[in-house]
Amino acid sequence: MIFMTFILISGLLVLYLIACTRSRSKNEPPLDKGLIPWLGHALEFGKDAAKFLARMKEKHGDIFTVCVAGHYVTVLLDPSSYDAVLQDTVSLDFHRYAQVVTQKVFCLRLPSSCAAAQRAWMEQHFEGEGLARLGKIMQENVRALLSSPEILQNPTDWKKEGLFSFCYRLLFKAGYFTLFGKEHGNNCDELNAVYKEYRKFDSLLVKIVRSTLKSGEKQTASELREQLWLRLLAGKAKSGCWQQSYRQFLREEGADEETQARAMLLQLWTTQCNAGPAAFWFLGFLLTNPEAMDAVMREINSLSLLAGTQPCLPVDKLQNTPVFDSALSEMLRLTAAVTINREVLQAKTLRLADGREYGLRRGDRVLVFPYLSPQMDPEIHREPEKFKYDRFLNADGTEKTDFFKNGRRLKYYTMPWGAGSNTCVGRHFAVSGIKEFIFMVLTCLDLELCDPDCRMPPVNPSRYGFGMLQPDGDLEILYRMKRHRNTTEGRT
Ligand code: HEM
Repeated sequence: MIFMTFILISGLLVLYLIACTRSRSKNEPPLDKGLIPWLGHALEFGKDAAKFLARMKEKHGDIFTVCVAGHYVTVLLDPSSYDAVLQDTVSLDFHRYAQVVTQKVFCLRLPSSCAAAQRAWMEQHFEGEGLARLGKIMQENVRALLSSPEILQNPTDWKKEGLFSFCYRLLFKAGYFTLFGKEHGNNCDELNAVYKEYRKFDSLLVKIVRSTLKSGEKQTASELREQLWLRLLAGKAKSGCWQQSYRQFLREEGADEETQARAMLLQLWTTQCNAGPAAFWFLGFLLTNPEAMDAVMREINSLSLLAGTQPCLPVDKLQNTPVFDSALSEMLRLTAAVTINREVLQAKTLRLADGREYGLRRGDRVLVFPYLSPQMDPEIHREPEKFKYDRFLNADGTEKTDFFKNGRRLKYYTMPWGAGSNTCVGRHFAVSGIKEFIFMVLTCLDLELCDPDCRMPPVNPSRYGFGMLQPDGDLEILYRMKRHRNTTEGRT
């Protein structure tokens, strides 16, 4: 006991000394260790990373090093210089940090050799012919869900629900049917249970990554993980579906059944955690910005595709929607907030676009946070906090791609999909699924805010860094199936 206490105190002392003795060397970025040894800025970072990093940017400029829970993290906020980080795959490593997070959250350790093979496998399925096949299945599933008893029961009655739960639930189900290959109508209870457990697990995810779970929550997280592993293994997947093929890939990589279950939970989260929240923000911004809703509806109506009660939207028509696409990019600019992390494998000099040079130490981390810049940077986007549906549209209706900072045209003016070697591999699939869902909701349903004057809820600030943001609260909506215009029934 005395020995253990001695080891513990010595360990803490070493950490304390490491934290306190580091000082900024010539040529290194400004160093801000924070007031609490070892912990540094961890609490402020975890509470609201965007606010904290904006404060540090104000104090130190667009590059600085901060201490966060024993790690020294160099933060770069100059989008003109992002390639200096993203394109160096020799000194800066993506996989180690990703592996640490994957192990923590999903208790999954895939052999590092598997990462490149997995990326290639994913590309095969989410690009080219694979994408066309999955996109079509997703389209059918979105349509089927929006005409399922879940929506159609008493179709003329108004139903009341939170917009976030409406979008997340339906897109999760469509995505799950598509990738995990379950038959419609079969096992509805099972799917509802998967969704419920998944949402609970997702609500604990930030705390799992930051190791701040309370003891009861720890227990819940591990129970949820195990239930989901079992469900994912036990579920009866359609032959030839994405999930079956993924399991085959894992088997070929030498993964046993337990590892397969864990990897499937990781994929369930990766493929489902962003689309539902994105659809929520998109519809929310449209509902609270009548001008944007009118512009999008005008474009949809101009497609002249309505046929009976089921709109028919061929994939090629879905691609020619500049107003919709601009509104989608604007929504993503405001609400996609990933952090791009790298570990410094060997000391290196980082050369910024304006010629400044900074030394990076081996073992430190580098973090790029596109949400602050370019996405919310007032020098790049005027009134960045406002939703302007036509921000990414030129006057002639083409896509606007020229944005500037310090007189320099930017390659990265919005980065919802990340960048570099780990750019979102599912981005085309995500866009087509979200588009299909929004088109279907806007054309099949009457959709209204319960309170026409309500505003968008604020974001949950603890989720900065975890992909799409989630709201703190919800927007209450009323919806029902659209009817022929000659009916006059009011809300029930
Ligand atoms: C609005 C929706 C989405 C957004 C904003 C988004 C964003 C991102 C971002 C920023 C990354 C990089 C993460 C990092 O650097 O740590 C990523 C990775 C990934 N995304 Fe998405 N994503 C979305 C939807 C999807 C969908 C629907 C799928 C698949 C069905 C998908 C599959 C993936 C995969 C497999 C990766 C890992 C890529 C790799 O590690 O090489 N994403 N996503």
